[in-house]
Amino acid sequence: MAPPDAFLAAASAVAASPEIGHEAAAFKNAMRHLAGAVSVITTGQGSDRTGFTATSVSSLSMDPPSMIVCLNRASSSWGVVREHRGFCINVLAHDQLHIADRFAGRGGATGAARYEGASWQQLETGALALANALTVIDCELEEAIERHSHAILIGHVRAVRTREQAEPLLYWHGAYRHISNVDRVLTSA
Ligand SMILES: Cc1cc2nc3c(=O)[nH]c(=O)nc-3n(C[C@H](O)[C@H](O)[C@H](O)COP(=O)(O)O)c2cc1C
Repeated sequence: MAPPDAFLAAASAVAASPEIGHEAAAFKNAMRHLAGAVSVITTGQGSDRTGFTATSVSSLSMDPPSMIVCLNRASSSWGVVREHRGFCINVLAHDQLHIADRFAGRGGATGAARYEGASWQQLETGALALANALTVIDCELEEAIERHSHAILIGHVRAVRTREQAEPLLYWHGAYRHISNVDRVLTSA
């Protein structure tokens, strides 16, 4: 079956753009199209604890259960993750936008002050897990691969807690979103 004209036009536009993948603005714009779940990554203990908001969270393998998070090495969390050797991925529910803002550094809170105004509990690694997060995945740091400006954190999963019946907080095109029609399933995978 021949592809529709619109598809061919889009494909030739991509082929005609030699800078694609190299030019910073084009790359940045392409990344705006990646819809992502919003998580807060917590690390450290006591007065040394800190954390950051992240969309670069992915599962790595089932056996052993492991996760990947990409962390900017200019962030205050980088030294703490290496020292603490663990982190907790808190996948946010749609009503936890204010927590995403705090851990992104908006409003100026740093370190332990980012945890104020929410309830936390300790699971296995000592990093704090957010009560009422959509799901929390507590990880021991298996390896940190330093690449370009970031470090790829590989975490061995030590504990998981999930809150059922809650909707995710998403980030897309530079704004927080929630699923507008959560019951509309296109197809089950
Ligand atoms: C929606 C969103 C997603 C983000 N994703 C990441 C990420 O995946 N990795 C990362 O290193 N920083 C990410 N950031 C930026 C960090 O949250 C922010 O730079 C960090 O919390 C502030 O660093 P600081 O601890 O040095 O103040 C994201 C920010 C926002 C608002």
